[in-house]
Amino acid sequence: MTLSEHYSATLIDHFEHPRNAGAMADANAEGYVVNPVCGDSMRLFLRIDAAGSTIERASFLTSGCPASIATSSAATELITGLRLEEAEALTRDQFAAAVGGLPSSKVHCSVLAAQAIRVALDGWRERRGASGS
Ligand code: FES
Repeated sequence: MTLSEHYSATLIDHFEHPRNAGAMADANAEGYVVNPVCGDSMRLFLRIDAAGSTIERASFLTSGCPASIATSSAATELITGLRLEEAEALTRDQFAAAVGGLPSSKVHCSVLAAQAIRVALDGWRERRGASGS
C-alpha cells in the first residue's frame, strides 16, 4: 500500500513536511492527549499573547499515524493568529478538511488536535485563574 492510495496530496505533504513540528521552549500552554482508539499521542505547545486573547504560535510533537501527524501540522497552522475562542471552536471535521479529508477508517485521527487545543487552553485558564489575573 502506498500513502497516495489512502491519503490526499495535501495530507501527504503535511506528513512529509510537518509545519511547526517540535517542542516550544517558551510555550505558556501545553496540551497532551492520547487517542483511546489506537494509543497515538499529541503534545501541543502554544504561545498565548500577554493579553490572553490570541494564539501567537503553535507547535506539536505527535507520535502516531500519517493522518494524526498531518492533522496536527495543519491544526498548528489553522490556530496560529486565532483568538482563543476561535481556536477552541474548530472541530475535528475542520482539521480533517484542512488535509483534504480523511478515509473513514482514519476519521478518529483528527480528534487528537481538537482535544489537545481544549486541554491546553483549559490548563492555561486554570493557571491564569489561580494566579488571580
Ligand atoms: Fe492513531 Fe491515527 S491511527 S491517530
